[in-house]
Amino acid sequence: MSAATGDRGRGDDRARSDALAFFGATGDLAHKMVFPALYAMEKRGALDMPVVGVARSDWGVEQLRARARDSIETFGGGVDDTAAFDRLCSSLRYVSGDYTDPATFAALRRELGPAERPLHYLAIPPSLFDDVVTALGDAGCARGARVVVEKPFGRDLASARELNAVLHREFGERSIFRIDHYLGKEAVQNILYFRFANSFLEPIWNRNHVRAVRVTMAEDFGLAGRERFYEEVGALRDVVQNHLLQTVSLLAMEPPAGRGAEAIRDEKVKVFRSMRTLRSDQVVRGQFDGYRRQPGVAPDSDVETYVAIEAWIDSWRWEGVPFLIRTGKLLPETVTEVLVELKAPPQQVFGDAAPVTGPVNYLRFRLGPQVAMALGARAKRPGEGFDGEPVELLFVDQPSRDEMGPYERLLGDALDGEQILFARQDGVEEAWRVVDHVVHDHRPALPYAPGTWGPPEADALARHVGGWHDPVVVHEPPGDAPA
Ligand code: BG6
Repeated sequence: MSAATGDRGRGDDRARSDALAFFGATGDLAHKMVFPALYAMEKRGALDMPVVGVARSDWGVEQLRARARDSIETFGGGVDDTAAFDRLCSSLRYVSGDYTDPATFAALRRELGPAERPLHYLAIPPSLFDDVVTALGDAGCARGARVVVEKPFGRDLASARELNAVLHREFGERSIFRIDHYLGKEAVQNILYFRFANSFLEPIWNRNHVRAVRVTMAEDFGLAGRERFYEEVGALRDVVQNHLLQTVSLLAMEPPAGRGAEAIRDEKVKVFRSMRTLRSDQVVRGQFDGYRRQPGVAPDSDVETYVAIEAWIDSWRWEGVPFLIRTGKLLPETVTEVLVELKAPPQQVFGDAAPVTGPVNYLRFRLGPQVAMALGARAKRPGEGFDGEPVELLFVDQPSRDEMGPYERLLGDALDGEQILFARQDGVEEAWRVVDHVVHDHRPALPYAPGTWGPPEADALARHVGGWHDPVVVHEPPGDAPA
């Protein structure tokens, strides 16, 4: 990479890939994400290349096609364009075999045909990367190629470095695409756009005006079949080290010096670098009651299904501003929201009858499932006297049917060699450095009741700025469009 590792720079960085191979083709990620994304790309006419599924299952291409149909029907809104689906099916190939067997990769090379710049998507556990990357190299499949890998990228700083070293044996940094699907979300990209496409924000976007930044990623569901994976990971590794710290980097970064992916990624890395390493007293871990009774979970498991952290960025801009971040499973709502609270007015000029509580001025970014932005203010309530009430200037984005999903966007960018929405090695490692100490050394997970906002002990982390902000979700009656 430009900053840290240097690129081995084989081939043209921006030439479009000419084939897609995806490992783990019969697995869960392919089923939920990859096939729907490929189908969406095919509908737009943006997938004009062979697509080779690779997996250990002893399948044929017909089974892979049936799996694609099932995936699109279950997770991709159904097959509504038969011609596109047929095109996808006819571009599909299947290679079955063990990832340690050179014959698997010889077969892959044959299926790739004349392709000179394949993209290899490793939708497989990181423990298999070493074998797969070595075999890709030995079979001549890595030459001119790109590789896509999934988060969580490693289990801690040391293992992330090892994985990076494995990938760099065959691929230059500019050919490595680390997927964090949050960066593929429109609402997350909008943080970057909104900050740097407007002039009114910059004067207040700093320690002089911002009191606290709160980020909540809540899910009202549990693990639903992912317990085994989760036992190895926990909330801190699953979403904080990646999705939520990436989101914070977009909120906190300096304006990019110049255009293009590297200018933006440079500034994001600086945010991670200036984040303090978390101490265990800045972290509250929780586990929902009943987690230990789930299949695949150890009866004495200490894995966290909830985590709240108090992060600090030691920079001129953010000195003294807490970044309070929390996430959890089985919370009251499914919602991700950022609240940037501004400092209160210096004086209360009006003797409002009711005491003014909670943040007065703020910017609120609802990142999902609906997308919205709001500016919180107080306005005079009509009538005698000067009594006010909280109001919001609200912008709600109605998702269009045409909008790209994160995986469609990210896979399309990777095929084009566009790095802007992917995490760079130095950023990934710095984000691990922030959480590395508490990943290994932490207080026990505290119990919380399903349907609550986590263990009450987490309140203490945010008390100095008036507590957490619980996002309000308006549930529309079935059949009504979201407002
Ligand atoms: C994944 C995590 O990366 O993100 C899941 O592994 C989490 O645990 C999911 O549920 C949330 O993604 P989204 O797009 O639904 O907010």
